[in-house]
Amino acid sequence: MLNVRSRLQGWQDRIETVLEDVLPPAQTHPGRLHEAMRYAVLDGGKRMRPLLVYAAGEALGISQGHLDIPAAAIELIHVYSLVHDDLPAMDDDDLRRGKPTCHKAFDEATAILVGDALQALAFQILASHPKLLAFPAQRLRMVELLAQAAGSRGMVGGQAIDLAAVGQTLSEIELENMHIHKTGALIRASVLLAAYSVEVVDAQSVQQLDRFAKCIGLAFQVQDDILDVESDTQTLGKTRGADEAAGKPTYPSIIGMSAAKAKLQDLYDEALEALAAFGDSAHALREIAEFTVKRLR
Ligand code: IPE
Ligand code: IPE
Ligand code: MG
Ligand code: MG
Ligand code: MG
Repeated sequence: MLNVRSRLQGWQDRIETVLEDVLPPAQTHPGRLHEAMRYAVLDGGKRMRPLLVYAAGEALGISQGHLDIPAAAIELIHVYSLVHDDLPAMDDDDLRRGKPTCHKAFDEATAILVGDALQALAFQILASHPKLLAFPAQRLRMVELLAQAAGSRGMVGGQAIDLAAVGQTLSEIELENMHIHKTGALIRASVLLAAYSVEVVDAQSVQQLDRFAKCIGLAFQVQDDILDVESDTQTLGKTRGADEAAGKPTYPSIIGMSAAKAKLQDLYDEALEALAAFGDSAHALREIAEFTVKRLR
């Protein structure tokens, strides 16, 4: 088996090809919308959620043929959330993944439609893509899981809480609740999509993976908040200091930077603890957990 870094790199290359393949060609009608969808999705981002699908699949002994389409579906939902998150009505950001945001490179109406179309495409490929090795029952379970994670009791609900919280002082519990929804829900769904892609899987293992995912889902947004203060625009590929400028409640602003870092470490420790029973098969998940808390972008 290749070392863990090479495997992650391999999955990063692999998901690029899958995304390229499921997106409509730019030359097909309506060309400008398809071009904008490809602009937003391809050639950028850390691909953290697809990596989690592949790595959770590896921990459960699931082959990659089951995982490519769920990995693409979760990334499409994530990119749709970013395109809408950057719109003037939301965070009003100009830079994303080191390039102009979708509404800057195209226009606002197109960016709204890009999000709408990416969301629809995610469900379409889970429901019917011929390369997905899954029976209808597994497809249906994945569709339901992703819909719940993306919807008003998941990511979109978290975004609503985020917008309502601008200029407010939240308690730590309220802040945690916001992060669990806006970012945690899709990260948790990434791991569960792998488990749901096959008919039979060990329930105890899935429970532990879910615990792992809850921890790194929250940790991911805590580190996102920290980086908004401590990183720089060039490294981040998005504008540093955007949270403070917009009056967003964040971990550093509510509990202070050193408590935010201590929280990150606690979540990392608990995430690793949840993987204890897996041995070598969870190496890639451990690597992703380490990356989540140590990343600079
Ligand atoms: C940014 O997500 C938005 C959050 C949920 C914190 P990522 O940091 O995963 O963004 P990309 O996909 O790498 O651009
Ligand atoms: C984004 O949170 C969460 C979603 C897009 C669902 P942020 O607003 O903190 O993400 P960035 O910092 O713009 O990437
Ligand atoms: Mg936001
Ligand atoms: Mg934002
Ligand atoms: Mg942020």
